[in-house]
Amino acid sequence: MKVLVIGSGGREHALAWRLAQCARVQGVFVAPGNGGTALEPAMKNLPLTRPAELAEFAAAEKIALTVVGPEAPLAAGAVDLFRERGLPIFGPTRAAAELESSKAFAKAFMQRHGIPTARHATFTDAAAARAHVGLRGAPIVVKADGLAAGKGVVVAMSVAEAHAAIDDMLGANTLGVAHNDAGARVVIEEFMPGEEASFIVVSDGRTVLPLATSQDHKRIGDGDTGPNTGGMGAYSPAPVVTPNVHARVMQEIIRPTLAGMAAEGRPFTGFLYAGLMIDAEGRPRTVEFNCRLGDPEAQVILMRLKSDLFEVLHHAAHGTLDRVELQWDRRTALGVVMASAGYPAKPRSGDTITGLPADTADLKVFHAGTALRGSDAAGGAADRTLVTSGGRVLCVTALADGVRAAQARALGAVRGIHFAGAQWRNDIGHRALHA
Ligand code: AMP
Ligand code: GLY
Repeated sequence: MKVLVIGSGGREHALAWRLAQCARVQGVFVAPGNGGTALEPAMKNLPLTRPAELAEFAAAEKIALTVVGPEAPLAAGAVDLFRERGLPIFGPTRAAAELESSKAFAKAFMQRHGIPTARHATFTDAAAARAHVGLRGAPIVVKADGLAAGKGVVVAMSVAEAHAAIDDMLGANTLGVAHNDAGARVVIEEFMPGEEASFIVVSDGRTVLPLATSQDHKRIGDGDTGPNTGGMGAYSPAPVVTPNVHARVMQEIIRPTLAGMAAEGRPFTGFLYAGLMIDAEGRPRTVEFNCRLGDPEAQVILMRLKSDLFEVLHHAAHGTLDRVELQWDRRTALGVVMASAGYPAKPRSGDTITGLPADTADLKVFHAGTALRGSDAAGGAADRTLVTSGGRVLCVTALADGVRAAQARALGAVRGIHFAGAQWRNDIGHRALHA
């Protein structure tokens, strides 16, 4: 069977890598893919991004399953289009993907279904939004309603900072948020204290299976300092999700969300990612929903997955997920992201990457912003140079007994990899180490 993975990041490299190892999978197309997927013998990059072209390709090549990595094609209705054409695809429909693509929808949904989250109010008018912040005080959270790849959120520690964020999001939009059809809106939220974790499940619309838990590191710098990024590293499992917290998340957040989506005529098939804030008493609340795997969470989760990913996703796409069980490597997986010079504000491209280690059973380098530059497509991949081509470049992922050993193994490999201006964090997993 041939499968198709849509996307070009580290998450998609990890999905394609696991799928390529599955018993019934003969080859994986990645559209558009990256330098890493171009180098994998079992994968082939496709220079396609438009859903209509992808559907055309899937039909012509008799693709057994298409898996969508990022949110943008989901929000654009790629799953709806494939389904209309009778093409097997795993992911939520456009209506279901609104859990991520519209923060206003997600917040109202959570309110309707009693799903724990921060109190919020939505504004289109800057003066009204500023007045609301004046009333509530800081710390307070200002979010743009739209897709911003994790960058449209300001956790304001002062009222002045919140006012500046409002003015930007409803005015100049320097964060570059892709606004929804309704135009610019901001959501202003109560600040939730606690520790974050990523809780991702796979669902076929009825049955739900939780994936291994994980924790991301959103800030660029060690000690969680500096600007927010798409994620600088992750590890799995996340000890903050104790068995008790796990049961509460399933009971109070995941099950009501899936039941609510089904009841509202938007049954959710796909990966559902609940970003959690867990307070000192172990009470979980929802920071946000994503309608996809996290990146870099996918890299560490898939490193630990022992079950056949193709069978899991195939069953999920066909409504028979109740026939599947998930098995996990009991070791810790930890991934360190290497980002390009200038990330996150102005990532630089074109720096040559050297020193990549060979894959082993417990070490894998997933590529994201990389490209192969070279003579021509006919020349073998080996003759070409690997260069940076985006913000997050690599995710160096290791499996070991415990967080400390996995971190040491990943960082050991990171230190052997070189490109000009590389940035990474040396403290991925710190919450599990200093708890
Ligand atoms: P989001 O894009 O909604 O996940 O927000 C990005 C980051 O901002 C989250 O990962 C949290 O670290 C932080 N954040 C968002 N909303 C809140 C909130 N209500 N309280 C505290 N921190 C938040
Ligand atoms: N790592 C956070 C996300 O994928 O949204």
